[in-house]
Amino acid sequence: MIRVCLAGATGWAGSELARAIAPLDDLSLVAAISRRRAGRDLGDVLGEPRLRCRVYPSAQEALSEPCDVFVEYTKPDSAKSNVLAALEDGAHVVIGTSGLTDADYAEIDVVAREQQRGVLACGNFALTVVLLQKFAETAAKLIPQWEIVDYASDSKVDAPSGTARELAARLAKVRPPQPTIPLDSTVGPREARGATLSGTQVHSLRLPGYVISAEVIFGMPDQKLTIRHDSGSSARPYVDGALLAIRRVSTLVGVHRGLDTVLDL
Ligand SMILES: NC(=O)c1ccc[n+]([C@@H]2O[C@H](COP(=O)([O-])OP(=O)(O)OC[C@H]3O[C@@H](n4cnc5c(N)ncnc54)[C@H](OP(=O)(O)O)[C@@H]3O)[C@@H](O)[C@H]2O)c1
Repeated sequence: MIRVCLAGATGWAGSELARAIAPLDDLSLVAAISRRRAGRDLGDVLGEPRLRCRVYPSAQEALSEPCDVFVEYTKPDSAKSNVLAALEDGAHVVIGTSGLTDADYAEIDVVAREQQRGVLACGNFALTVVLLQKFAETAAKLIPQWEIVDYASDSKVDAPSGTARELAARLAKVRPPQPTIPLDSTVGPREARGATLSGTQVHSLRLPGYVISAEVIFGMPDQKLTIRHDSGSSARPYVDGALLAIRRVSTLVGVHRGLDTVLDL
């Protein structure tokens, strides 16, 4: 039985995950985190009687309940301190929250290795995103120029998305993209070329009507390739990937990014 503490258990993504854990025999939710529902029983909050755990206002308080895996599904401003607290407490960590930077992950990696604990950070748990990442890595081996477009709803506070950040970081490991005109030689506002993340230009749209989409465009003379993922409006696509991450994270030490770390692709 894996004991799970879920930060963000009342949110859009976290509540779907909590409901999916409720009937499982191998996972048990032992603590939840939400400021507005603190002090209540999570089962009452979510209308799921099989969930019997208390909601705490902070990670520090929730970690008073012993857990094996801490799942971070809150917001970028609280994610890093929650993760560090969980590692210090001896838990393995699954990170679903977006917005953490490469520098944040480097800092978390140091603590995870000191504690000999695993951290599995997945900017997107959906299977179609995992496939987008793999296909894009293959394309980057053969095509030297690409850019990423990241689409999300107008209410998403962080930009670029975790999906776009993770994709840029992975493509950087294949090779740096080679733009024909260096960015510093751009004529006009530099911002028109987007943000540079791990060497890739990333363009973020935030508009009503979008949920999460990610697109990577590879260009070669007289041909181009577009690989794109689109999410629907429910949080269901993220559940199976998050459950797999929870079950496998204890096999890791240090920070690992992307669900394919624990998939046989
Ligand atoms: N990796 C993936 O596949 C994936 C999928 C979906 C979403 N996400 C990411 O996951 C994160 C959460 O998304 P969401 O749509 O579920 O957000 P949401 O609906 O706003 O839920 C956020 C949850 O975190 C809690 N929370 C927020 N700030 C907190 C704090 N300072 N201390 C304690 N609890 C706090 C909220 O409860 P209170 O407000 O009551 O504190 C709520 O339970 C975002 O970064 C999103 O981009 C990732």
